[in-house]
Amino acid sequence: MTSSKLIVANHKMNMTSMDINQYLKKIKKEINVENVIICPTSIYIPYFLKHIFKVGIQNVFYENKGAYTGEISPRQAKSMEIDYAIVGHSERRNYFLETNQEINKKVRLCLKNNLEVILCIGETKEEKRNRKTEQVLEQELLENLEGVKEFENIIIAYEPIWAIGSKKTPTMKEIELSIRFIKQIMKKYYHVDNIPVIYGGSVSEENVQEIATIPKLDGVLVGGASIKEEFINIAKTILKVDKNEQNSTNIPKTR
Ligand code: 13P
Repeated sequence: MTSSKLIVANHKMNMTSMDINQYLKKIKKEINVENVIICPTSIYIPYFLKHIFKVGIQNVFYENKGAYTGEISPRQAKSMEIDYAIVGHSERRNYFLETNQEINKKVRLCLKNNLEVILCIGETKEEKRNRKTEQVLEQELLENLEGVKEFENIIIAYEPIWAIGSKKTPTMKEIELSIRFIKQIMKKYYHVDNIPVIYGGSVSEENVQEIATIPKLDGVLVGGASIKEEFINIAKTILKVDKNEQNSTNIPKTR
């Protein structure tokens, strides 16, 4: 059964080729790889493609070719049969000073090359404290998606920056409200109904059951836990919740 919820693993800059062999053996045995999108460190992508995973790239450049040492373009990614690209991750925004305008160029070039975009947005701790979460989300959606006309290939990842790698998460109600808000904004400005919104930030085997049942949540983006064995339990929990939801919506309601 294919899941309607997305399970995305962002390996970031972790693991060596030896670790990956072990990892592949374990997760291929335990979970249906069809349901999982793996975003490895770029040089390891071919290992995963060989094993019929859906594969995403963690970053792309905003030009298709040229003298940009060290960069990878959306066109090059697509030519390797990569189907997804994470764009605008907060670690790129913070450490590599990516601006909303650059992210917008990346989004548009990915779409042109038929790469599905996982666009990351989210507030800092300070912005949350000052009750600016909605303002930040709205501004990022407006600036990062400016000029975009087709939305079938866009997934929004709500990743509060302060929740990444901190073992802290917003309350389930807060996540639900942010997801609803993102969907509302997408409807208001872009006339898109029900854009997929996934949550990322300290997702673990301890909290995934609760996160998976948040209304309107379309999946999870897992960082640190995605390189550990607990990723298997995370994926299994999401798949189970999804299956239960699908079954309950198939049962005809009696009056
Ligand atoms: P953690 O799951 O380690 O908090 O990272 C989340 C993330 O940044 C995924 O893109």
